[in-house]
Amino acid sequence: MTAPRQIFVTTALPYANGTFHIGHIMEYIQADIWVRYQRMQGHMVNFVGADDAHGAPIMIAAEKSGKTPEQFVADIAAGRKQYLEGFFISHDNWHSTHSPENTELAQSIYKDLKTNGLIETRTIEQFFDPQKGMFLPDRFIKGECPNCHAKDQYGDNCEVCSAVYAPTELIDPYSALSGAKPELKTSEHFFFKLSDPRCVDFLEQWTQDGRLQTDVANKVREWIAPGEDGKPKMGDWDISRDAPYFGIEIPDAPGKYFYVWLDAPIGYLASLKNLLQKRGESYDAYMAQPELEQYHFIGKDIITFHTLFWPAMLKFSGRKVPDNVFVHGFLTVNNGEKMSKSRGTGLDPLKYLELGMNPEWLRYYLAAKLSARNEDLDFNAEDFMLRVNSDLIGKYVNIASRAAGFINKRFGGKLGEISADGDALLSHLRDALPSVSSLYAEREFGKAVREIMALADRVNAYVDQNKPWELAKKEGMEARLHDVCTVCIEAFRILTIYLKPVLPKLAADVALFLMLPPENFSDVLKPLGVGAQIGEYQHLMQRVDVKQLDALFAPNTEAEKGTGTPGSAKPSAHAPGGEPLAPTITIDDFAKIDLRIAKIVACDKVEGATKLLRLTLDAGEIGEDGQPKLRNVFSGIASAYQPEQLAGKLTVLVANLAPRKMKFGVSEGMVLAASHGDEKNNPGIYVLEPWPGAQPGMRVR
Ligand code: 2FM
Ligand code: ZN
Repeated sequence: MTAPRQIFVTTALPYANGTFHIGHIMEYIQADIWVRYQRMQGHMVNFVGADDAHGAPIMIAAEKSGKTPEQFVADIAAGRKQYLEGFFISHDNWHSTHSPENTELAQSIYKDLKTNGLIETRTIEQFFDPQKGMFLPDRFIKGECPNCHAKDQYGDNCEVCSAVYAPTELIDPYSALSGAKPELKTSEHFFFKLSDPRCVDFLEQWTQDGRLQTDVANKVREWIAPGEDGKPKMGDWDISRDAPYFGIEIPDAPGKYFYVWLDAPIGYLASLKNLLQKRGESYDAYMAQPELEQYHFIGKDIITFHTLFWPAMLKFSGRKVPDNVFVHGFLTVNNGEKMSKSRGTGLDPLKYLELGMNPEWLRYYLAAKLSARNEDLDFNAEDFMLRVNSDLIGKYVNIASRAAGFINKRFGGKLGEISADGDALLSHLRDALPSVSSLYAEREFGKAVREIMALADRVNAYVDQNKPWELAKKEGMEARLHDVCTVCIEAFRILTIYLKPVLPKLAADVALFLMLPPENFSDVLKPLGVGAQIGEYQHLMQRVDVKQLDALFAPNTEAEKGTGTPGSAKPSAHAPGGEPLAPTITIDDFAKIDLRIAKIVACDKVEGATKLLRLTLDAGEIGEDGQPKLRNVFSGIASAYQPEQLAGKLTVLVANLAPRKMKFGVSEGMVLAASHGDEKNNPGIYVLEPWPGAQPGMRVR
């Protein structure tokens, strides 16, 4: 076996001035599928994200909302978890560019670039708002377009005629912050000398050696190519901003800060460093591994930063350069209608979750549309419903539901012998392993999903030919029925592994149903075998209901409007007790959880575990020997209770939770306790206790 690869993966850092939109979620899902695939190949992946916290727009938005920038970005950060967990994004860490790690890294990268002779200072002229006492970013200067004379146009381009110009060319310019007439003022700025021949040579090689997507490499070539003056078009890069600015101070330059785009990608490294520190591992040793691979998933609007500035910054500060940058296009919704919250044509990811829509429907739908190319894709509501209901559920999930009932009712839940035709079908499924695997590796998820669905078609054809529902009624066909259903279950297991990077939660539910440990890609080749026991089939996935889509795209009510607007985020409305409500479930879903009153007959400390207590519970059960059957449950409540406080009390037990093997023994259920979502700042754990009168064994409903 070859050694596992060491892979460092990032998603672009979102500005900390607004909640996530569907474009963010698409990128996270794309990267997450790739990361989960690599992990399933046995590789070691560190997958990180962070908030991009700095810059003038965030400083100004914070001021408008009456908060310090620190508080403003912290409030935004508090709202991230509900999206990331909601869509099963498996980042190992989420950090912030406003952090000690980022300050330290940005300052040291800058010093190394300076030592290498790649930083120079120049005096430039810029618009200054005399009322606010600050230099104005282009976006905060408005005036009349010098080309078409439209009023109130931004300082960098005209939204009416699309002309591009410098802010100094605007007619009657004014500050968008105060309305004051801006003054031209000089200031010393720091530049990263990208036009230095060393940088140009390096970038020509790094961007044109075949690693980048073709259209990305072509675009980048234009920026590096010499202009009429013989210098590359990209020019040198202005990396400093004057105080007041929310950012990182430039060493030995009082009142000067790094431009937000200098420290933003360094935030990738800061998040990684923070993760490794938390694990007690060495960042320097990790980065020094010669075999380490580094990949960045980004959108097409930030290519320059990631293919020119970022690799050059790393290269000439003596650090590891990225192995690749994976660029995706934009997501439009319902045939490219411009997204607008008030008109209700956008797709609000939080609303999607709050409506109880299954996150894996979206993961599947996007996977089916994603390719390795940098191209836009469209979320179309009808297409979404069709693909989920007919492909995912109709073709794949149904295979299990058609076979599992017979295996359970007629064969004690045990798999049987497989005859030649079933073997041939399963071999065909297994033979697809290299091809499915390389499609995932190449980020051709749409092709991977199509290939897997074609395999599901073959399985369904086999079911239709053999008609287990008829075999079940015929005499003497018992063995064939067992054979056919066994083939279906094994086929379903293989298809589930193929889909697992896209559908991690469903795959975990299937593992429970088939009573298997979590599976990797290579497990496709390890059949379950005769006599293998499977569990009771539980419905794995609901169909999309058109009413949910109608609700998703219905215009928002007044009360809902603005919850995603920068500066007016209301984390508390969405997060009682520090976390948002989970997606809606049906009463049937709830009925699956068997809650029982249990008496804590004994409670002990666990040697070697600081957080755990061992509870011995009587939930009114009787063992085969006719004696009361007690349960052993480990619970992470040692920080809140002494064992003697709990012994003798009644509490609530999740009685049908699958037993879990832990270091200290098997835990046979879980007791209920309340805690705040942000435990760090709101510690405290409160075990539930019923009112007097409840007896061990009573169901809680
Ligand atoms: O365009 C954006 O949303 C930026 N905040 C992306 C930064 S990516 C990385 F460089 F941090
Ligand atoms: Zn114009």
